[in-house]
Amino acid sequence: MKEQLAKIEREALEAITGAENPAALEELRVRYLGKKGELTAVLKQMGKLSAQDRPAMGALANEVRSVLEETIELTSQKLAAAALDLKMKAEALDVTIPGQEAALGHKHPMYIALDEIKDIFVGMGFTVLDGPEVELASYNFDKLNAEEGHPSRDWSDTFYFDADSRVMLRSQTSPMQVRAMETMPLPIRIVAPGRVYRKDEVDATHSPMFHQVEGMVIDKNVTMADLKGTLNLLAEQLFGAGTVTRFRPHHFPFTEPSCEMDVQCHKCGGAGCPTCKGEGWIEILGAGMIHPNVLRMSGIDPEIWSGWAFGMGLERTAMRRFKISDLRLIFENDVRFLEQF
Ligand code: DAH
Repeated sequence: MKEQLAKIEREALEAITGAENPAALEELRVRYLGKKGELTAVLKQMGKLSAQDRPAMGALANEVRSVLEETIELTSQKLAAAALDLKMKAEALDVTIPGQEAALGHKHPMYIALDEIKDIFVGMGFTVLDGPEVELASYNFDKLNAEEGHPSRDWSDTFYFDADSRVMLRSQTSPMQVRAMETMPLPIRIVAPGRVYRKDEVDATHSPMFHQVEGMVIDKNVTMADLKGTLNLLAEQLFGAGTVTRFRPHHFPFTEPSCEMDVQCHKCGGAGCPTCKGEGWIEILGAGMIHPNVLRMSGIDPEIWSGWAFGMGLERTAMRRFKISDLRLIFENDVRFLEQF
């Protein structure tokens, strides 16, 4: 029996230390130490021994058992460490390999111009507002003093959503004046940039979707001189010192008096060329003193408060700012064009 035990110990130790993975190790544990294992089988024969030999043989068997148990535990730890090591190596990341450079996008020149415009007005204490492109005709027209039958309300000019002409794509950013007057405490200084929509065919100066920036000031004792001073300051800051502007009388339903502001053409310096259609000037915006009816409809007393407003074409302004000659370049999004700014 002594030899039997020694043989089991020798074979088991060799097998256990050679186990290649946890599953093989577990198999060996069952084979030697399990209920039906080889060592267990030897112990079962213990009854056949004389009372004299039994204690010594028992002690020897226990010793073999604990040697095997310890070796199994040790081997198990070694296998786990080796597995972890392998996993770490497989998942290793070489942080010194140069990365793949991502092609970054580029800000559109019109939005560069818009950011400059916002900065100029924020610097003068204006708040920038955002508003809905799907607008009620009551905000786009009625509350701006454009009564039923006004030509701009015509179906041939405006995108309506319903047969009653009550919901539409806004044709101007001016409804933001009404939204500001209805919700903001006085005095008010706002600019509101955004998309507007009209049924126009695309050509060098037209698009069915374009951008405007609305501006409005309501305070006490506001005059046309404030309007002209502010817009001249805008022109100088945006287009450069010494930029020449002119104001022409005009008509808008929501302002009285009304005007348009032109900036001298950057291409010809006022002599007349294709870019300015021979005019020497480029029209940038409409403006005026807010009509008392408009103030009254939004619950503001025109005897106490007065204000001015303007609506600027953003594409045209960006074209003047960056000396771009054709409106279509703004919308075509040719990367070779956009990357120049
Ligand atoms: N909404 C006008 C347009 O689209 C532009 C405009 C003119 C806006 C005068 C104004 C203004 O705020 O006072 O043609």
